[in-house]
Amino acid sequence: MYSENLVWPKDLIDLRGLSAFHLTAILDAAENFREVSEREIKKVPTLRGKLVVFFFHENSTRTRLSFEVAAKRLSADTLSLSSSGSSMAKGETLLDTAKNIEAMSPDALVIRHSASGAAQFLGDRLSCPVLNAGDGAHAHPTQALLDLLTIRRHKGRIQGLKVAIIGDIAHSRVARSNMIGLSALGAQVRVAGPPSMMVGGLDDEYGVKVFSRPEPALEGADVIIMLRIQLERQSGQLFPGAREYARVYGLNPRRLSLAHPEAIVLHPGPVNQGVEMSPQVYQCPQSVILDQVSNGVAVRMALLYLLVDNPERHKA
Ligand code: CP
Repeated sequence: MYSENLVWPKDLIDLRGLSAFHLTAILDAAENFREVSEREIKKVPTLRGKLVVFFFHENSTRTRLSFEVAAKRLSADTLSLSSSGSSMAKGETLLDTAKNIEAMSPDALVIRHSASGAAQFLGDRLSCPVLNAGDGAHAHPTQALLDLLTIRRHKGRIQGLKVAIIGDIAHSRVARSNMIGLSALGAQVRVAGPPSMMVGGLDDEYGVKVFSRPEPALEGADVIIMLRIQLERQSGQLFPGAREYARVYGLNPRRLSLAHPEAIVLHPGPVNQGVEMSPQVYQCPQSVILDQVSNGVAVRMALLYLLVDNPERHKA
C-alpha cells in the first residue's frame, strides 16, 4: 500500500526527481485501481466534481484513450482538445491556449506535444497539476510507469532484472523515461540500437550498458522493450530501409531465444509488425503488449488520484 506521508510534486513532467518510494507508491496505487476495471460498474467517485482537460497536440491512441478512461472511471468531468480542432490552427500560442483552458478552472491538464519541454513550460505557468502525456523526445513518464507495473506484475519485482531496450533510442521519450524508472528501482538496463539512432553519454547519464547490436543486450534478458522507429522525429533517413532494419535489429524468434526462456516482450505501441518485431513474436505467449495497455488505465487512475485528489499533499 502506498504511503500517505509522501509529498508529491504539483506536476508529473518526468520520472527524474521521483524517489523509489514515490515510484513504488504509484505502482501500489495502480495495483489497487486495477480492481475497479474488473467490476461490473467500472466507476468510483474519487474525482467527482473535478475537471480534467486533455490537450493533445500530437497524435495518440493508447495514451489519450487510457487517460480519458482513467478520468471517467474516477468520475471526473473531462474535456478534450486537439491542435487541429483548436484556435491554435489560427495561430493562437500554446500558452494563450492553456491560459484560456485555465480560465475554465480545470483541476488538471494532461498534455501531449511534439516539442520537448512543452509540458514543463505549461507546468511552470499554470496553477493546476500538469501531467505529461509525452513531449517530443524528452519524456513519457506515464508510459514508463505502466511498463514498470507490467514488469512487476509478470516478474514479481523490478530489482535485479536484466532489461534490454532496443531500437531508436535517440528519438525515444519512452526509452529515456524507462531508463530513469528502471534504474531507480534497481534493474540492470541495457540499450541497443543502430549507431545512427543512439546518443552518446547514456552510460554516464543513466547508468545503462550501451550496445550497437541487439544480441549482447538480449543475452539472458528477463525483459525486452522494443521501440518503434520514430520517423516523425528523424531529420533524415537513418537506416537503409525497413527490411534491413528488421534483419539486423528486429526481434524474431531466433533473437528472442537469446533471452531468458521466461523473458517478457513489451512495446509501447504502435507496433510495426515485421519491422521492430516479427508477427510471430508479437503474438507469442511472452508478448505482454496488450497487458501494457490495460495497465495504462490503472497507472493513469493512480496518478490522477495522487496529483488531483489530494492537493494538500503537494510541495508548496
Ligand atoms: N505508447 C504511446 O504513447 O502510444 P500512443 O502514441 O498511441 O499514445
